[in-house]
Parts: sequence; C-alpha cells; structure tokens
Amino acid sequence: MATAKYIVGNWKLHGNAQENAARLAALKERCRPDDALAVCVPFPYLAQAQQALQGSTIGWGAQNVSEHAKGAFTGEVSAAMLADFGCGCAIVGHSERRSLYGEDDATVARKAQAVAEAGMTPIVCVGETLAERERGETAQVVTRQLAAVLAHVSAETKRRLVIAYEPVWAIGSGRAASEEDVHEVHAMLRGQLEQAGVTGTRLLYGGSVKASNAGALLNIADVDGALVGGASLDAEEFLAIAQAARV
Ligand code: 13P
Repeated sequence: MATAKYIVGNWKLHGNAQENAARLAALKERCRPDDALAVCVPFPYLAQAQQALQGSTIGWGAQNVSEHAKGAFTGEVSAAMLADFGCGCAIVGHSERRSLYGEDDATVARKAQAVAEAGMTPIVCVGETLAERERGETAQVVTRQLAAVLAHVSAETKRRLVIAYEPVWAIGSGRAASEEDVHEVHAMLRGQLEQAGVTGTRLLYGGSVKASNAGALLNIADVDGALVGGASLDAEEFLAIAQAARV
C-alpha cells in the first residue's frame, strides 16, 4: 500500500517512442514500492507505458477521454477502450481542454462519470484564470466547476474522484501559486466535498510544480499530491518530486 502523496505526471503533447522508453525505464528503476506515481501520456503511447511499467507500482493513464461510450465520433477514444487494456486513470477537464477545445462544466462531468464507470480514476481539474482571480472570482469559479461534477456523477464515482486544483495562470508559467492561495482553495474544495458527503478525496495541486518547490507545496494541509506538467518530462525532476512526496 502506497503511503506517499500521489504524484501524477501530465506529459501533454510531448514525447516520442525513444524518449519515452528512457524516461519510463528511469522511473521504473528508481521509484520506490511505496511511491504513489502515475504518468498520463498521449494516447499512442499508452501501450508503451503499459509495457514499460509492467512489474512496477507506477500507474499510467490518459489525458482526456470521450464522454461517449461508442458510436460515430471520429477521432474519439472511449473510457472502455482505455480500461480494456488496463489503463488506470484519465485526466478530465484540464484547463487546456476547457479553453482550447471548448469543454464546459457539463462535458467535464460526463467525462468524469464515463471514466469512473469504466473502473478507472477520473482526475478532474479545476482552476481559475488570472482574470478571474483578479476579479476576486476564484472561489466562485472553482466551486462551480466542482459542483457541476458532484451534481452529475454517481455516488460510486464520487468515491473514485481525484480533484486537481490547477490555477490557469500557474500552469507552465514557472510561477506556482503561493502556499496561502493553495491552502485556501484546497480547504474550500475539501469543505465542498464534505458537504456533499464525499470524504477521503485526494486533492492534488498543479501549476509549475518542480523539485525545488514540491516539498513546500506538498506540505500544505489538504494537499494530497501534485499534477505535474513540464517537470514530469525530466525523469530526474519527477523522481525528485516523488522523493518530496514521501511522508
Ligand atoms: P506545469 O507543471 O508545466 O505548470 O503544468 C501543470 C499542468 O498543467 C499539469 O496538468
């Protein structure tokens, strides 16, 4: 049973077979059995992750999924297809999906339900833009995004949810949210979940997490792990974050 905080790498649109092989081999070789790590890779490399990580405790998953089970949806990948060969988790509602591909709260909620129904863990992202933060709307935006999911999904899905707070302005900017901001939002999300009767949910922070700030961020109350973008592409960095996550 893993005791460390949950560290998930989101590779986004990066990698190739050769690079991935080296990165996955390094993670497999150097992670510890009680680390709780996962990598979310582009669809074509899921099978590579599955094979390379066999015999390790590192999970692997997708960065998106179709809200539909099957049908005439060219280019889509269903949750059942992912589950078919052992995929463990899928990110849904990443801010890049919301802003670049028009995913709204209702779509994100349907995707979370699809992922959980297939037996996987939905990692649902929430977070405000810089403009929303500056307008003082952080609490409103983040609670609206979570409420849409809680209103739609089944009781069983609620038990499987992982929530990632990713302030949009902190993603890829090199500037993580302050410890105070993270603490405030995570406490609010925890309260909202508990009010909905959902306890024990893992709350991840994402946005410019790297080896140098992981210890401080992971030490904040109600931070149960991290969703890591850029730093997950560097095995050394990712392993250093994993080390900071050991409790
Ligand atoms: P960075 O760690 O590169 O800021 O990305 C965060 C992210 O979007 C993870 O999903």
